[in-house]
Amino acid sequence: MVRKFVFGEPIETEAVIDQVGIEVLQGGTSFPDQWQVVQAETLTLTHCMEPGERIYGLGESMRGINKRGFRYVSWNTDDPIHTEDKESLYGAHNFLVIQGGVCQGLFVDDPGRVSFDIGFTVLDRLEIRVDSGSANLYVIDGEDILDIVRQFRRIIGRSYIPPLWGMGYGQSRWSYPDVESVREVLRRHRENHIPLDAIYLDIDYMEKYMDFTVSEERFPEFAVIVSEMKQQGIHLVPIIDAGVKMEPGYRTYEEGLEKGYFCRKEDGNELVVGVWPGKTHFPDVLNPEAREWFGNSYQPLMDQGIDGFWNDMNEPAIFYTEDRLLDTFEQLKSFRNTDMDLQEFWRFVGLGPALQNNQEDYTLFYHNMNGTLVRHDRVHNLYGYNMTRAAGEAFDRLRPDQRILLFSRSSYVGMHRYGGIWTGDNQSWWSHILLSMHQMVGLNMCGFLFVGSDIGGFGSNASEDLVIRFTEWGLFTPLMRNHSSLGTVCQEGYAFSRPEIFAHIIGLRYLFLPYLYSEFMRAALQGEMYFYPLAFLYPGDEMACRVEDQLFVGQSMMIAPVYEQNARGRYVYLPEPMKLYRFRSVHEYDTEMLSQGHHYVNCELEEVLVFVRQNGMIPCTWFAEGEQPVNIDSVLKADSLCLMCYASEPIRYTLYRDNGLDKDYTAPGKWVSIETDEDGQVHVSDGNTKILHLI
Ligand code: NOJ
Repeated sequence: MVRKFVFGEPIETEAVIDQVGIEVLQGGTSFPDQWQVVQAETLTLTHCMEPGERIYGLGESMRGINKRGFRYVSWNTDDPIHTEDKESLYGAHNFLVIQGGVCQGLFVDDPGRVSFDIGFTVLDRLEIRVDSGSANLYVIDGEDILDIVRQFRRIIGRSYIPPLWGMGYGQSRWSYPDVESVREVLRRHRENHIPLDAIYLDIDYMEKYMDFTVSEERFPEFAVIVSEMKQQGIHLVPIIDAGVKMEPGYRTYEEGLEKGYFCRKEDGNELVVGVWPGKTHFPDVLNPEAREWFGNSYQPLMDQGIDGFWNDMNEPAIFYTEDRLLDTFEQLKSFRNTDMDLQEFWRFVGLGPALQNNQEDYTLFYHNMNGTLVRHDRVHNLYGYNMTRAAGEAFDRLRPDQRILLFSRSSYVGMHRYGGIWTGDNQSWWSHILLSMHQMVGLNMCGFLFVGSDIGGFGSNASEDLVIRFTEWGLFTPLMRNHSSLGTVCQEGYAFSRPEIFAHIIGLRYLFLPYLYSEFMRAALQGEMYFYPLAFLYPGDEMACRVEDQLFVGQSMMIAPVYEQNARGRYVYLPEPMKLYRFRSVHEYDTEMLSQGHHYVNCELEEVLVFVRQNGMIPCTWFAEGEQPVNIDSVLKADSLCLMCYASEPIRYTLYRDNGLDKDYTAPGKWVSIETDEDGQVHVSDGNTKILHLI
């Protein structure tokens, strides 16, 4: 049951699109009594948490799967240092579920600053503060957490589905700056037998960092390059940034200016923001007309054969505004004397850093939302959402039948309908493998299914073993992309001493893909999770509820990645007996039967652990001896499957199979039923699928 409580004068975010069956109530009066509500200048909700209550959700935020013990602030922020004290990252995902004493979901639909103090200031107190004082609060009651998530997912609409090749392995780097470097990435992957489907182009492919342009010098005849790559099974995926360069003669700039589609200040002038291209304007993607215009700007790249994009810097990130820069120059004039005291010195030193993402700057500009001017800080968390929505809506208009790859850095609930997200600038730190695992759960709850983190870590230098272990986790994330920052060591599999390990591990992605894709489609089409924490599947098992470093991928497969350096194994907790597969490549593995309880399992550097639940079935691509996956075609063309099974009785699995390109998701014949009978024989509902092996 979903109830909507309207407080004050909420902004319509279009996060919730299905209002059918939702009871709408005004303000605090009938609000569930486990909450104390105070509405003054801000709106504050307080709940006293029982010792056994766990709080789940909040999308990509920091810390654990159970969010208790910290303070999280929804305020989309470009912050590349994800240390455990960080309260805000790139997205605002204000949905949480309380499990334990009460079982209730709450979505705080407000695009301004919202904070969640979950036992941080006072151990047992959950306090939510909505700075604007207005919000639509959706309270969801249900049987259990999965039921609540399903109801939430129904009202926010179906999650974005990428083309299947977008679930292949992608290699990225800031940057592969010219066509030769791109060719080299492909050549070296193929030479080293590392499968590959996509190469990502970071900002240097553009002419002077101007969105929707391509450098003629570095990528001459871009359409020819795109097609040359496609012929070799590779999709090029360019980045698009939020800021549009101020450059006379540049079409997007001239058009946006002429039509009045850039964000303006109170004085009517466009806000001038410094980002990668130098001085830019922000397209007002909250204005429906401007959004349509910005979305259409993706077309010229699509006409050159591009079928995937990643949207960046859309918190929106501000390196400086012209206004603050001028003000800073003024302030600098007062610093002439070297005899300054220390306070003055710190003020002087602080002037530079204060330019970047300065909170005051977010109050300087306005959006034209259907004719009403709204100051940016009131709707800050909607910017990345609407930039990606601009693209998503344009793709639906321009290529109605084709799936286009799309993901974004910044987001709000609702954006999950238009694209996926990556978790931004993580670091090559061991702790960020675990952080990524935690983030996936909250994201799935909020409808973001096409998600992943930069494999190997974006910032800092990565060691070979870290990238291997990161890849062993990343091979289960729907978006599987290795990306790293300029100035760090190269992180491609072939850049290390044992490229064959990368070939083997990344090959496993293609081995498991029939199952991973089916679970993804089930999650998208039926409002399910793709990653489940053990607590969601075994809520009555107190030990399972405490586990935060194992996940289920779908409901048949449990994974337990190794995320500590020099570890050659790890402890796992099994809530029920399971069959462990220890994979070294698509051909090499051993198995072990494990009883319910705690175990230490060995896992050498080049090994990946997969646990199959009782009566679970995991259909995989069958690779004949000597055969190694190359790209997604290796999966699409394979008509044979092998089944990882742990069954004492007849079992059934429904597999999703299609061409991975069109949008006819629910057309008949896409779900294939695979059943085993009493004699261990396998029966398949679709005549084209051959089953060769039970493993
Ligand atoms: C910030 C993004 O998070 C990162 O992935 C990208 O490489 C840089 N911007 C440069 O475009």
